[in-house]
Amino acid sequence: MDTSIIIAIANQKGGVAKTTTTASVAAALKRRGFRVLTIDLDPQGNLSDSLGAEMFKLPTTYELLKRVSLAPDVTQHLDACDIIPSNIMLAGIEQELLSETGKEYRLKETLRPISDRYDYILIDTPPSLGVLTINALTCADKVIIPTTAGIFAANGIQQLNNTILNIKKYCNQGLQPAGILLTKFNPRTMVGQEMKELTRHLGQHINTKVFHTFIRVSVAVEEAQANKLDLFSYRQDSTVAQDYNAFVQEYLEG
Ligand SMILES: Nc1ncnc2c1ncn2[C@@H]1O[C@H](COP(=O)(O)OP(=O)(O)OP(=O)(O)O)[C@@H](O)[C@H]1O
Ligand SMILES: [Mg+2]
Repeated sequence: MDTSIIIAIANQKGGVAKTTTTASVAAALKRRGFRVLTIDLDPQGNLSDSLGAEMFKLPTTYELLKRVSLAPDVTQHLDACDIIPSNIMLAGIEQELLSETGKEYRLKETLRPISDRYDYILIDTPPSLGVLTINALTCADKVIIPTTAGIFAANGIQQLNNTILNIKKYCNQGLQPAGILLTKFNPRTMVGQEMKELTRHLGQHINTKVFHTFIRVSVAVEEAQANKLDLFSYRQDSTVAQDYNAFVQEYLEG
């Protein structure tokens, strides 16, 4: 593979497992022998923190987007995957790039020289539809939309879908929604089952597939994050690690 496949993980709703999905999919792909880079595009820096990256070691995504001089190797090499980290410095970027022409293309430009070193580049985005998420969607080939079950989650996805359609129209014709991934799912509740149906309908409505695999709720996620390990290094036999593994299998086959 010469150029990488770039996947944005996006949903402007907070806490729907964007970061967990980015880290787990990255680790699962690496375990299958792929060369994987993750990019932390969230000022919260949760991805960097949860995988044990050095969050304040330059360059971070802030320097990348600001085009501050870059070292030849801009990535950190972790057990789970390679990463370009972020920290709270990134919080001001919206204002800093406000009047810049072509601000949507900054990440795409910076990734060009390194993208042939990887098979997959996964971008974790913040819970908003601002310039950071726009940058991710502008350089991505695919977007995975994690969502929890719930009526508010459904509303958010319609809004995200409008953003995706606009990006396709104005910035990135090739952008393809890969699908909606139901996360933090509790199969034991009735509400859970109903919400699964609702998510299916929503997927049909916006013409986006809903992955068959869904990710069950499990304490192993927070435990792994607290130990700064990806799910597979922490507990490969946990239900949630198995779910993410099944999801990656489904993704690769689909
Ligand atoms: N399958 C799961 N089971 C249990 N807890 C989970 C699961 N997935 C994620 N969580 C927990 O839910 C919280 C939110 O997850 P995560 O940080 O991945 O979401 P996010 O969409 O990236 O949030 P934000 O919008 O703030 O960036 C975290 O505390 C995480 O540990
Ligand atoms: Mg996050």
